[in-house]
Amino acid sequence: MSSPVERPEAAATLADQGTEGGNLLTVRGLKVHYPIRKGLVFDRTVGHVQAVDGVDLDVPRGQTYGLVGESGCGKSTLGRALLQLEDATAGSVDFDGTELTKLSGERLRVLRRRMQMVFQDPMASLDPRQSVQSLLIEPLRVHGLAPADVEEFGPDSPSSHLAKAAAMLEVVGLPRASLAKYPHEFSGGQRQRIGIARAMILNPDLVIADEPVSALDVSVQAQVINLLEHLQDLFGLTYVVIAHDLAVVRHISDRIGVMYLGHIVEEADADTLYAEPMHPYTLALMSAIPVPDPVLEDSRERVLLAGDLPSPANPPAGCRFHTRCPFVQDDCRTVVPELRVLGPRKVACHHAEEIHQQAAVTVIDGTD
Ligand SMILES: Nc1ncnc2c1ncn2[C@@H]1O[C@H](COP(=O)(O)OP(=O)(O)O)[C@@H](O)[C@H]1O
Ligand SMILES: [Mg+2]
Repeated sequence: MSSPVERPEAAATLADQGTEGGNLLTVRGLKVHYPIRKGLVFDRTVGHVQAVDGVDLDVPRGQTYGLVGESGCGKSTLGRALLQLEDATAGSVDFDGTELTKLSGERLRVLRRRMQMVFQDPMASLDPRQSVQSLLIEPLRVHGLAPADVEEFGPDSPSSHLAKAAAMLEVVGLPRASLAKYPHEFSGGQRQRIGIARAMILNPDLVIADEPVSALDVSVQAQVINLLEHLQDLFGLTYVVIAHDLAVVRHISDRIGVMYLGHIVEEADADTLYAEPMHPYTLALMSAIPVPDPVLEDSRERVLLAGDLPSPANPPAGCRFHTRCPFVQDDCRTVVPELRVLGPRKVACHHAEEIHQQAAVTVIDGTD
C-alpha cells in the first residue's frame, strides 16, 4: 500500500520524533567506582563500590529524562558525574558536542555555568547566613556574568545583578520583598523555589534536579513540579529529574530510566513505562504507587520487593536483581542480561516477555 515515496518520509518522522535539535547530553558506558580504602592511613584499596556501572543515556534538547530507583542505587552519583562533580572511572559524557570527562580548568568552568543542579534539601544547600539577595547574586558573581540588562544599569553594576535576582524571584513565584529575608523565614516549598531560582539565574541549558521534591509535603510537591515544567517552557531547558518514586517523575518526564545497583534496567517513554512496565523491578516500583480506584487497588497484581538492596561493593552475579526477583530462573544467576530493545522500550531482563504475559493473565483472573 505505501508508495516508495512515502516511506523515507515516514522513517524520517520516526527518527526525528522527540529528538528535534538532537541530544544535548549523550552518555556512553559511564562508570563511577568509589575505592574502598583500608589500613591505618587508608592506603590499601580493598574493593570498589560500583555506584554507577556502565550507563548509556541520550537526553534530547528541551526534554526531560526521569531517573528512578530506590535509595542507594546510584542516581545521585550518576547525576553528579554528568556535571563532572564526580570523576568518571570509565565512559564518556558529551554535553552539546563537548566531551566533558577530558575537560578541566577554565574550559570546564565555562561549560559548568550551562549545567546547574537543584538539590533535594533546600535547607542544606542554601547557606542560612546569606540573604536571598546574596544567595541569588552569588552565582552571577562567581561566574563573572554581565547581566542581560547592562545597558540600563551599566556593566556588572550591583544593581543590575539585583534587578536580575528580583526578576528571577518573581518567575519562581516569590515576592520581591523576599530578597532581604533569610532561608529560615520560608517554608520548605518556598525554599525550594529559592534553590530553583539560584540554579536558573545563570540561564543554564541543562538542569539536573536530584530528588527536588522528596523533602517536601505531598501537597507542595505538585506545585514545585509544575514550576519546573513552567520554567522548562519559559527557558527551553533540558532536564534530568531524579526521584526514588515513580509517581513523582511520571508527568514531567518524556523518557524514564529505571536504575538498579548502578545499571539502567528499563528505559522507555513515560506513557509506555506506566502502561506496560516489563522489568520485574519496574513492576515492583509501580506496585508501590497507590491506585486511586479502590476496586482496581484491591484486585491488581502486586510485585513486592523482598529483602534489602545488595551492596554495590559486591553486587550479585548475573542479573543484579536476581536475589530479589520473584520470577528468578537459573540463567538469571549467572548471565548478565543486556539492555535490549523490546518494542518501544529497552529492558535488561532475560525473561521479560514471559513475565509480562504471566502478569497480564494474573490481572485478568484477578478482576473476574
Ligand atoms: N563518595 C562516596 N564514597 C563511597 N561510596 C559512595 C559515595 N557516594 C555514594 N556512595 C555509595 O554509592 C552508592 C550509590 O549512592 P547514591 O548515588 O547516593 O545513590 P542514590 O542517589 O540512588 O540513593 C551507595 O552504595 C553509596 O553508599
Ligand atoms: Mg540520591
